[in-house]
Amino acid sequence: MFIGAIGCEPLQLARMHVENSRSIDVYRKHGGYEALKKVLETMSPEDVINEVKKSALRGRGGAGFPTGMKWSFVPKDSPKPKYVVCNADESEPGTFKDRYLMERDPHLLIEGMLIAAYALSSKLSFIYTRGEYRYLIDIMNRALAEARAAGFVGDRILNSNFSCEIHTHTGAGAYICGEETALLSSLEGMRGHPRMKPPFPAVSGLYASPTVVNNVETLTAVPDIIKMGGEPYQKLGTEKSGGTKLWSVSGHVNRPGVYELPMGYDDMEKFIMEDCQGIPDGKQLKAVIPGGSSVYIMRADQIIGKDVRMDYEGLVTAGSSVGSGGFIVMDETVDVFESTKNLTEFYKHESCGWCTPCREGTDWLVKVFKRIANGAGRPEDAQLMLDLCDNIEGKSFCPLGDAASWPIQSAIKRFPEDFKKHLAPPEI
Ligand SMILES: Cc1cc2nc3c(=O)[nH]c(=O)nc-3n(C[C@H](O)[C@H](O)[C@H](O)COP(=O)(O)O)c2cc1C
Ligand code: SF4
Repeated sequence: MFIGAIGCEPLQLARMHVENSRSIDVYRKHGGYEALKKVLETMSPEDVINEVKKSALRGRGGAGFPTGMKWSFVPKDSPKPKYVVCNADESEPGTFKDRYLMERDPHLLIEGMLIAAYALSSKLSFIYTRGEYRYLIDIMNRALAEARAAGFVGDRILNSNFSCEIHTHTGAGAYICGEETALLSSLEGMRGHPRMKPPFPAVSGLYASPTVVNNVETLTAVPDIIKMGGEPYQKLGTEKSGGTKLWSVSGHVNRPGVYELPMGYDDMEKFIMEDCQGIPDGKQLKAVIPGGSSVYIMRADQIIGKDVRMDYEGLVTAGSSVGSGGFIVMDETVDVFESTKNLTEFYKHESCGWCTPCREGTDWLVKVFKRIANGAGRPEDAQLMLDLCDNIEGKSFCPLGDAASWPIQSAIKRFPEDFKKHLAPPEI
């Protein structure tokens, strides 16, 4: 599997192939904890937030919300404690970059979290992983022990007035616990149900206190932003999508892996055919889901010859979105009806059951998919599925409902032939 940068110097992946990259000594030899030192010695919390704003860093967890802006929403005058929570749930199908960041460069995440905690005047932070990532918790705990022993975590860090402790926590393996408010419920020891927004976590999050929830990739971008400055980091990407982005590439490509690309990389066809070394066995490209399962699926003719720019704006223009960067490539042998059925079974299984449109709608959709797969499809079933999606999208309590609808809506509209062949009764 390939892990590296294309079209730029590696930032977040810089130490991925360095021997013993998990150790604090190796991290420090490669400039590790220098950004934290710079922050503590020369910058105020506001300076840090301004630098992150200038960087045009956008949250890598899926929604792409500007990170500096999110940090500035935390009320400075609140008498309550403030928390930084790292979302390391990484449950979105097709996404596996956070895993490598934690597995191979755990101190980068710790440093990013400490800088965020300093910017937000937070003394307590948490790393929340999915249940299946328990082995990563062992790696993170070992790195935290090293950082504590070296004076980077705990009381009066590097003899400054800043103190911060970081704890790890695993969920039980539910996709919904990646949604930030469900994650906070789970972290508090309750069932992982999403909460009403507003209030947003920045105002009332963990234990009803101001909380910033950020993805692993977002937080691991912060040390480089501080080292090089917000503006130079932004310039690596585009005006509104600063820096570099990690893409987890899987499916029908000759070279799957984790790719670090500059934001705005031109173009997606070149990325698939050259950087990922094309489709195996000389087959044709059929479809790409570029941002994890919860985004619109794209047809090959929306990509080939279209100069699709790989950033937030470019992908929306091309008819999909960056999402979590889980880049799933499908060749001509894939039946999009079957792949969408598979995804719908996932969403049905992961629906937390809290609200009716998502709980009942995903169950009904799976029943229709199964009936069609069993040969009892009706010509009106495609419209029935679109109607069901229409009754889930925008009408559910949290975005999982939308996420369940979008793959089906886009698959039916963009690959009608794959659905039609299952719906028509067989010719006798
Ligand atoms: C169903 C669902 C699952 C999610 N799963 C994840 C996840 O595994 N990791 C993640 O960082 N964000 C996930 N998110 C997005 C988070 O709610 C939140 O937007 C993100 O953690 C904010 O961090 P960021 O600003 O750094 O992107 C999920 C959202 C939804 C609706
Ligand atoms: S949309 Fe689905 S996952 Fe979200 S609250 Fe409703 S039932 Fe739960």
